[in-house]
Amino acid sequence: YTLAVIVPAAGVGSRMQHSAPKQYIRLAGKTILEHTLAKLAQLKQATSIIVAVSDDDPYFDSLAFIDQRIVRASGGKERADSVLNGLLALADNPPDWVLVHDAARPLVTLADVEHLLTECISANEGGILACKVKDTIKRGSTHSEQTVPRDDLWQALTPQLFKYHDLTQALQSALAQQVTITDEASAIEWAKKPVKLVAGRSDNIKITTPEDLDLANFLLQKQHS
Ligand code: C5P
Repeated sequence: YTLAVIVPAAGVGSRMQHSAPKQYIRLAGKTILEHTLAKLAQLKQATSIIVAVSDDDPYFDSLAFIDQRIVRASGGKERADSVLNGLLALADNPPDWVLVHDAARPLVTLADVEHLLTECISANEGGILACKVKDTIKRGSTHSEQTVPRDDLWQALTPQLFKYHDLTQALQSALAQQVTITDEASAIEWAKKPVKLVAGRSDNIKITTPEDLDLANFLLQKQHS
């Protein structure tokens, strides 16, 4: 099989309250995006690593991280638009599979990514890393109205792995019909195609708010020691 990687990295990180977008915050010696790219570059079978960043992003080209396979693509308005731009950048020579991974998840392990690849490719189905919900989940606005049974609830992580053509078609039609798409799997579900759930580590967090930074810093130092 052939495999390409897409990294949506065009978010502005408004929930982080930081001057630069969150993927450029430095933790354990380098930016979050460099940590993420270093992890993904360990995938020897990936032929290209497309990073979708805003056209007016002044930071990306000065990153120290160099890998011949890294290519810059244009980010879009929403995450799904950024991913679709990354897919279209591969249209001349499309891979069989694409692995989409958030720039903001530098803690992913190579073992988890390889587990996802093995499970999905052997089943010939797309899938995602996910972890079972641990907390008791409530529904409500100011008061809890309901406790949601959690036995079959999963938290979606990335990477998410799908066939190139399945994902491109699903994203294009979902975006055209203004369906809310917060991850690749939501577009694939909407297209009525299978999404395999592959259990991954719950410390593969998406760095989103300031309180995530200390935890991510600690976990990155631990991975490097
Ligand atoms: O905002 P959120 O944390 O959900 O973003 C998840 C990932 O999607 C981040 O890596 C962010 O940079 C990326 N993103 C993007 N284009 C957007 C919005 C978010 O590539 N328009």
